[in-house]
Amino acid sequence: MYKEIVIKDLNHMKDFAKKVGKEVFPGFLLCLEGDLGAGKTTFTKYFGKSMGIDDNINSPTFTIMKVYEGELNLNHMDVYRLNGIGADYDLEEYIYSEDVCVIEWYKNIIDSLPEEKMIFEIEILDENKRLVKIEGAGKYEEIIKKISNWFCNETPLCSFIWRF
Ligand SMILES: Nc1ncnc2c1ncn2[C@@H]1O[C@H](COP(=O)(O)OP(=O)(O)O)[C@@H](O)[C@H]1O
Ligand SMILES: [Mg+2]
Repeated sequence: MYKEIVIKDLNHMKDFAKKVGKEVFPGFLLCLEGDLGAGKTTFTKYFGKSMGIDDNINSPTFTIMKVYEGELNLNHMDVYRLNGIGADYDLEEYIYSEDVCVIEWYKNIIDSLPEEKMIFEIEILDENKRLVKIEGAGKYEEIIKKISNWFCNETPLCSFIWRF
């Protein structure tokens, strides 16, 4: 399933991330793509908060991964500096687990990721506006339906004014 939504500002991104954070289940895998400054880490901050993580979430670029403990753990990865998972990292153990995983720059390790996952590609439209391309199959389809219903309730004319 594929959907596109336009996020109009930071607050809207917060609401969107909160909504997604309520849908997590053990093994939930969310892959994020988008240029530097698109909002991958910002999204994850609000997403984690909504999952019930109390710690402040910040970018794991230099550590590759940070683990936040909660009712479900959140493994937040930024694999910008990786080219494949390689032998040095035990990342797969964290990805194929009962934890929730969010992976920024997931394409760098695409060969190590399962078929079933949710993908958000965030495109910068202007300083505050973002286009989010949402993709997912299997158990993620219901969630995508829920998200787009939420989005259309927030934005009553969304099916007419789709992009702008
Ligand atoms: N609608 C929006 N959604 C997400 N971030 C936004 C939005 N509007 C402005 N921003 C700003 O853009 C920046 C995104 O940075 P960051 O989340 O670190 O990006 P990335 O992790 O994709 O490199 C932040 O400074 C954030 O405040
Ligand atoms: Mg980031």
